[in-house]
Amino acid sequence: MKTDSFRGRDFLTLLDWSKEEIETILDTALDLKRRYAIGERHDHILATKTLFMIFYNQSLRTRNSFEAGMTQLGGHAHYLDPSKIYTPALPGKEIAYTTERVSDVARVLSRMGDAISIRCYGDPVDWVYGGAHEIMENFAYWADIPVLNMECDKYHPFQALADILTVKEKFGTFKGIKFVMSWAYSPSVHKPRAVPQSAIIAATMMGCDTVLAHPKGMELDDEVLAACRQYAAMNGGSFEVSNDFEEALKGAHVVYPKAWCATPIFKPPVGQDDPQKTQEIFDANKDWICDQEHMELADKYAIYMHCLPADRGFEVTDDVIDGPQSVVFDEAENRLHVQKAVMSLVMR
Ligand code: CP
Repeated sequence: MKTDSFRGRDFLTLLDWSKEEIETILDTALDLKRRYAIGERHDHILATKTLFMIFYNQSLRTRNSFEAGMTQLGGHAHYLDPSKIYTPALPGKEIAYTTERVSDVARVLSRMGDAISIRCYGDPVDWVYGGAHEIMENFAYWADIPVLNMECDKYHPFQALADILTVKEKFGTFKGIKFVMSWAYSPSVHKPRAVPQSAIIAATMMGCDTVLAHPKGMELDDEVLAACRQYAAMNGGSFEVSNDFEEALKGAHVVYPKAWCATPIFKPPVGQDDPQKTQEIFDANKDWICDQEHMELADKYAIYMHCLPADRGFEVTDDVIDGPQSVVFDEAENRLHVQKAVMSLVMR
């Protein structure tokens, strides 16, 4: 497809991009991956360009894959710790000489570089669901350069791109692939739901037979579920929600168990602000762990996926994550390739 329209666009959620555009991004990622593997340099693509990366939260994969990606494309990735600049804040959240209004930060950085990427969820927005996404949208509104979502409280679109690229590489198709995104137990209830929400959007968009499995009380955003139903109807797959872990795993080709906290921990308007209730649901479902016995319910060629970091011994056992069905390091590597693809297309 013609990719001129990609230039200058924000990448905040897959919902803003068509299936054809996402397929083009995946093809570009595979092309860059193969070319780099045979020693072809492509450091002319973003030569002299700068990506500003604002991390309100910690990161291993996201930070390093964006930095390495910009190096390989010939540009520079600049790390910004919000506590060491004037913390970008929305109107009503400002503190004199401590914060700086997002509209001002966005316009200053637009005069100096070529894209702004942001990670923000949880504590920096006091776990108000949608609060971090609002910061992303406000940056995107004011910036003259692309704004990239490195994970907010609603979406983790680059993780989802890496996830579906990995499925494409392993199976060669999305048709007939049963993709099970499941909740799993963790000792920490402080887990955003960006990964599962973006994963089911990506899987249904690509036409997988997608199953979302979780205990009652761990529901995801209704708007995301509605989008998944629509993609399933449009793209030839299916979408189901199950509260039965073992039933959901039967015949799965992709097993992707991961902890998230749902509405009880989030504050109004979406959540009920009841962390104790969340803790009770977590504690009652410690058997939602991906061990070898559970993997045996899946298809014999099933792959085990996780965005990492994984809570070993809780979300997954060592023998599964370190075993032959695990593709977690391919998935982590693919963060680099999909991000290079998006940056190449939108930052030209
Ligand atoms: N999967 C992921 O986003 O990892 P990091 O938190 O290490 O960036």
